[in-house]
Amino acid sequence: MLTREEFAKHILYGHTPAVQEKATSFAPANIALVKYWGKRDSNLNLPVTDSLSIDLGNLGTTTTVEHSHTGKDIVILNGTQLAPEDKFAVKVIDFIDLFRNSVQTRTKPLPLKITTYNNIPTGAGVASSASGFAALTKALDKFFGLRLTERNLSLLANIGSGSASRSIFKGFVYRHAGTDPDGMDSYSEPLPYTWPELKIGLITVSAKAKRVSSRDGMERTVATSPLYKKWPDQVKSDMAKMLDAIKAKDFELLGATAESNALAMHECMRAATPPLNYFEPESEAIICKVQELRKDGFPLYLTIDAGPNVKLLYLNKDEEKVKTEFPDMRVVNR
Ligand code: PMV
Repeated sequence: MLTREEFAKHILYGHTPAVQEKATSFAPANIALVKYWGKRDSNLNLPVTDSLSIDLGNLGTTTTVEHSHTGKDIVILNGTQLAPEDKFAVKVIDFIDLFRNSVQTRTKPLPLKITTYNNIPTGAGVASSASGFAALTKALDKFFGLRLTERNLSLLANIGSGSASRSIFKGFVYRHAGTDPDGMDSYSEPLPYTWPELKIGLITVSAKAKRVSSRDGMERTVATSPLYKKWPDQVKSDMAKMLDAIKAKDFELLGATAESNALAMHECMRAATPPLNYFEPESEAIICKVQELRKDGFPLYLTIDAGPNVKLLYLNKDEEKVKTEFPDMRVVNR
């Protein structure tokens, strides 16, 4: 089994760096239609199952990597310079070290300034770690002049955050769990299908940071939830249904599969010890409302990540009615 450093070295080996002055990249946020929940290797962040997502268009992160002329690493997030001991800053520096240590050709240190900006509206219920680590990976690749393949970028972004691996690409993205203990087959790839009529709406229930991180929540679920044993089989069957739905543009199948997959993930979490409940009462109320509307024949579905905020799935032709039913919803322009 490889360490993170060995993993990065393995991917970066043979790439001659050509360090630039400055490099900027954008990566979109994404929402999983079939979720990733649980790691087969927590050090390399390798998932137990495949997952499948769709990008959130121009909602995401723009990151610039450049030389720091202060002699120290600097991390600026949404206009604020972070303290060196800030949790996010530490994660970013650890991540850039994977590149820096692997490709450094100079003997003198190479302090960097990382400026990162999320245009995801605060509290939109969309994690910025996926777009954040994908944008950082792409910007580091440009800054070091490496010209890595997108597959390799997805392998590296995964070290920052599992869902970041998918944010390297646009559109529908398939993340392979892989079986290699060294993680080299655990990459993402874009699917060759588009579906412009498919829409996503974001409903913010709470803008507070989640009580339990995805990493800790996954660990607890895998270790203690009796329902987790069935999760890999559920994902396998949901991935097959989701692919069929996307290929055939079968909205009912896509929506039903995404919703039942998300709710099954939350059931697994709730069965953990101690139980993990990411919902607020308002999340439950929205779930009920969506399911009631559907009983009345309205084609509307939802998905929810590790937090209380709800994402609605609907077709463009139904947008006006969805907006009327959920006036607080933000439409994602893809
Ligand atoms: O990428 P992480 O470690 O934040 O985990 C993402 C977990 C979910 O958002 C709940 C599911 C997913 O596949 O994005």
